[in-house]
Amino acid sequence: MRVVVVENDKEMSREAANLIQERIKEKPNSVLGLATGSTPIGTYKELIRYHEQGSVFFSKATAFNLDEYCGLDGDHAQSYARFMKENFFQSIDIDSENTFIPKGNAEDKQVECERYDALIRERGGIDLQLLGIGENGHIGFNEPNDLLSAGTHRVELDQGTIEANSRFFDSYEEVPKSALTMGMGTILKAKEIVLLASGVKKAEAIRGLLSGKISTKNPASFLQLHPRVTIIIDREIADAIQLNQDIA
Ligand code: GLP
Repeated sequence: MRVVVVENDKEMSREAANLIQERIKEKPNSVLGLATGSTPIGTYKELIRYHEQGSVFFSKATAFNLDEYCGLDGDHAQSYARFMKENFFQSIDIDSENTFIPKGNAEDKQVECERYDALIRERGGIDLQLLGIGENGHIGFNEPNDLLSAGTHRVELDQGTIEANSRFFDSYEEVPKSALTMGMGTILKAKEIVLLASGVKKAEAIRGLLSGKISTKNPASFLQLHPRVTIIIDREIADAIQLNQDIA
């Protein structure tokens, strides 16, 4: 696992965007796994900038998003479908036919989850998965639990996650209490993974991720089993966990 420590959000976004840009240049028809949340917004901004400068093109790329809230339609202001459109897709040349996100308002959630995994397989699997991380170590919406699911599935959100995400809604009550998310297997099958984290609130989750131990109580810790992972963290986290580069 490669750990990169950066000084601020700008540097984090640039590191991540450079890596994504490099992969797209190597393989223009890359299948990207994309994430929402506030952390990757700067990365999308950087990629948009690179695209506007003519240095990266997405016309042959495909994107699969990690997750979507249940019960919100794709036009809802807080849906992840809308987030992706506004923060990234509408400003690049990706074909909307090649952008996918689980349908959180699908009538039969089970069928939708199976359809999503089948679609990822049909497209040849994910080449590069971008991840943020929850304060409790969740990736996508794989919340800490006794058992984790391999495939895309419906999940009840932790109270802490609902509270953390309520900052985007008018009230706690309005935050959906469940979501559809890629499973741990879906994520770990990606050929390469890059995870971003900033701020001391994420320090415990990152400590678990670098601990050398795997626990379903910190889903991100499973990334230690993957052969090609880059973790980009800020100085605040590195100092809080007294990162010794050797443990990576
Ligand atoms: C949400 C998303 C995750 C994301 C996490 C952290 O719950 N489902 O994919 O990583 O929040 O969000 P933020 O980057 O805003 O801290």
